[in-house]
Amino acid sequence: MAVRRRETRDLPGCVAALREVHLADRYPTAWPADPRAWLDPPGTTGAWVAEVGGVLAGHACLVAWADAAVVARTGVPAERLVAVKRLFSTPAARGGGVGRALLDAAVAHAAQVGRTPWLDVVDGEPAVAFYERLGWRHVERRPADRTAGHPVMHVYLAPR
Ligand SMILES: CC(C)(COP(=O)(O)OP(=O)(O)OC[C@H]1O[C@@H](n2cnc3c(N)ncnc32)[C@H](O)[C@@H]1OP(=O)(O)O)[C@@H](O)C(=O)NCCC(=O)NCCS
Repeated sequence: MAVRRRETRDLPGCVAALREVHLADRYPTAWPADPRAWLDPPGTTGAWVAEVGGVLAGHACLVAWADAAVVARTGVPAERLVAVKRLFSTPAARGGGVGRALLDAAVAHAAQVGRTPWLDVVDGEPAVAFYERLGWRHVERRPADRTAGHPVMHVYLAPR
């Protein structure tokens, strides 16, 4: 397995992999109208792909963004936080270390530029146990916002 920076030529493979993940895991819950744009949200500072046997097996990116609640809860200034987004491994690659390797690459890059990674995850998703297993620190449980239709979310900060 190899993790490297995502290049533009990777995007078709990333979209195909995302499609598999959506069908298997409902991630993302709703299939985006423009999946390429969804994989490259505004503020993206870096993106990585994992390959297994030359086949695209996972993706992650970092986005320079933090909301006021994360700043207040962590005490880390907004300009020193960076969000892990669009993390997934394909169903065929699960349990093989792809998710860990992608997070390691993102966290190492964040450290190089002096930022602390954080992320949010939907309550009840298997990914919660994955982040806990990797030592991510639980920061906050966000109650569901029924009016906006947001589910209960958990916020995590990268391991020290
Ligand atoms: C969450 C996800 C990225 C994990 O990817 P993965 O490639 O299977 O993870 P890894 O193989 O690197 O696992 C790393 C460790 O976490 C553990 N782990 C992985 N998934 C787990 C789960 N669902 N429950 C408990 N532990 C889990 C592994 O056992 C491994 O521990 P070990 O090293 O002690 O054996 C993957 O399941 C996924 O893409 N899910 C759908 C999309 C999603 O939910 N993304 C996150 C959005 S917030």
